[in-house]
Amino acid sequence: MAKIVIANWKMNPQTLREAEQLLRVTKRIARARKNLKVVVCPPFVWLASLSRMFGKRLELGAQDVAWAERGAFTGEISAAMLKNLKCSWVIVGHSERRSYLKEDDTMINRKVLQALNSGLKVVLAVGEQKREESRHVVGAILETQLTCALMKMKSQQLRNLVIAYEPVWAIGTGLSARPDDALQATLLIRKVIAKQFGNLGARRCKVLYGGSVDKRNVASFVNQEGIDGVLVGGASLDSKGFPELLKHI
Ligand code: PGA
Repeated sequence: MAKIVIANWKMNPQTLREAEQLLRVTKRIARARKNLKVVVCPPFVWLASLSRMFGKRLELGAQDVAWAERGAFTGEISAAMLKNLKCSWVIVGHSERRSYLKEDDTMINRKVLQALNSGLKVVLAVGEQKREESRHVVGAILETQLTCALMKMKSQQLRNLVIAYEPVWAIGTGLSARPDDALQATLLIRKVIAKQFGNLGARRCKVLYGGSVDKRNVASFVNQEGIDGVLVGGASLDSKGFPELLKHI
C-alpha cells in the first residue's frame, strides 16, 4: 500500500514563484515513486495558480475549510470553492488552528462533515498538548478529540478520512515522538475508530504521524506497518531536503 505524505506549507512561501519552484522539485520525486502519494497543502492564495501542476501521485490539499456551506462568513473559504480548484484534500483540526484560532472539537466536527459531504478528503489532526508519560492519558485525550470530531460521520466516509497523530509538543520543535510511541498512538486511534465504526472501519482508516518529521527520522515512522505515512511541516519547505526525505520512504 502506498504511503501517504502530507506536506503542510503553513503560511509559506511568500511568493508564487517560490511556491512553484518548491512544487516542481517535489513533483519530480513524487511522480517517480510508485509507493508514494504526496499531498501538498499550500496557502489558499496559491491554490488556483498551482492546481495545474498536480496529477497522479501528487495531489492538492488546503490547510483549512469553512464549517458552513456558503454565505456571509468574511474571510472564509468553502469546500465547494476548494473542489472547484481541483483541490481534493483538506487538513482539519491542526493544532495551530486549535490554539491560535480557538477552534474547538465542535467546530472541527462541523468542518469534517462539511468537507466530507462536499467530496473532499480530510486529514484530521489530533494529539496531546504536552508530553505524557502515561499511554492511558494519551488514549483518553485522543478518544475525546476523535469522538467529538467524527460525530455524525457515516462509516462509508471513513475511506475519505486520514487521521494524523500529531503530539503538539513535537510540532516544529525538532523533538519528534519515539517511533514506538507513535505506533502505540496509532493503535489507540484505531481502537477508538473500532468502537465507533467497527473493526472493518478501523482497518480501513489510514493513520499518519506528524511532528518534527525530517529526512533522518522519516524511515523510522513509515517503516512501521501500522503507520500509513507522515504529515510534514517545516521539512516540506526545504527544496533540497524534502526530495531526500521522500527518497527515504
Ligand atoms: P513540523 O510540523 O513538521 O514542522 O513539526 C508538523 C505539522 O504541521 O503538523
